[in-house]
Amino acid sequence: MSKLFEPFTIRDVEFKNRIVMSPMCMYSSHNEDGMIEDWHKTHYTTRAVGQVGLIIVEATAVQPAGRISAQDLGIWSDDHIDGLAEVVRLMQQHGAKTGIQLAHAGRKATVDGDIYAPSAIAFDDKYKTPVEMTKDDIKTTVQAFKEGAIRAKKAGFDVIELHGAHGYLINEFLSPLSNKRTDEYGGSAENRYRLLRETIDEVRTVWEGPLFVRLSANDYIDGGMTPEAYVEMAKWMKEQGVDLIDVSSGAVVPAAIDAFPGYQVKFSETIKVGANILTGAVGMITTGIQAEEILKNDRADMILLARELLRDPYWAYTAAKELRVEIQSPKQYERGWMF
Ligand SMILES: Cc1cc2nc3c(=O)[nH]c(=O)nc-3n(C[C@H](O)[C@H](O)[C@H](O)COP(=O)(O)O)c2cc1C
Repeated sequence: MSKLFEPFTIRDVEFKNRIVMSPMCMYSSHNEDGMIEDWHKTHYTTRAVGQVGLIIVEATAVQPAGRISAQDLGIWSDDHIDGLAEVVRLMQQHGAKTGIQLAHAGRKATVDGDIYAPSAIAFDDKYKTPVEMTKDDIKTTVQAFKEGAIRAKKAGFDVIELHGAHGYLINEFLSPLSNKRTDEYGGSAENRYRLLRETIDEVRTVWEGPLFVRLSANDYIDGGMTPEAYVEMAKWMKEQGVDLIDVSSGAVVPAAIDAFPGYQVKFSETIKVGANILTGAVGMITTGIQAEEILKNDRADMILLARELLRDPYWAYTAAKELRVEIQSPKQYERGWMF
């Protein structure tokens, strides 16, 4: 029996399989207003027709200053709800569960005006130097994540993921390489975790559904975060009601990464075993057999694919064929299936 195609439930939300579309920025809000456009409707719905179990909509900014680019999707205003609700409806029509990644780009924002981070240190010489956040700024940003969660709920999403990876704001607080604060938001692991702790607590006051956090489990630099260091934080997340850690890595500081098939899977395994929490594995996973190996060896509970689902929106059918599993297809295809 294939585990990849086994239904899977978290907090009453049943996913028809363990295939997840990893969040991917489409940089397609062309009016720079964070709004859903035709592209998003076509792009996400296609993967739903392709039988992906859970589709996580790209990094969506909770504040305009927290956009990676001016073309990012936004959720900082009630005006964003209708467009997102439409994408949710389209995806759900085909049996996909829907997630959204709530994000703040921190010092990696490339928008006009001031950008914000735990410490006034630029990512590298191509990025702006951020303003060090005051405690009021922190409070406002935590509230923005909460308001984003309220809007995501109104739009009908099944899952919320907090973007704590890839060197964006939450990740910048977690890593000692980017967080040089001397107040209660910097220094010890407890202090660096405080912004995420407050964000999770606030989100949990308005969101009862599955909550994921994406982490960069390895900074790939001496003195930076490691999968083992994240085990401790993952335990705290679990206590706070986080359901799954989506385990990515890197990008909090410039570092060379040796990326090879499954290169982040062992980080997922370390966190899954160490913190006894559900995890998702991501990164150069491209075949059904590879996905099956990860799941059956208990190295992760869900499989996220990014670029492979750009290449092949119907990857689920490809993997089913490879694993000799018969899967449901849209009823419009069923006649064709007989021939
Ligand atoms: C076009 C593109 C956009 C991406 N945008 C995001 C994003 O919005 N949020 C995120 O957490 N990761 C983002 N990523 C990273 C992917 O989600 C994924 O972690 C990474 O590509 C590794 O998986 P893969 O080897 O299956 O592509 C992006 C990747 C690509 C290729």
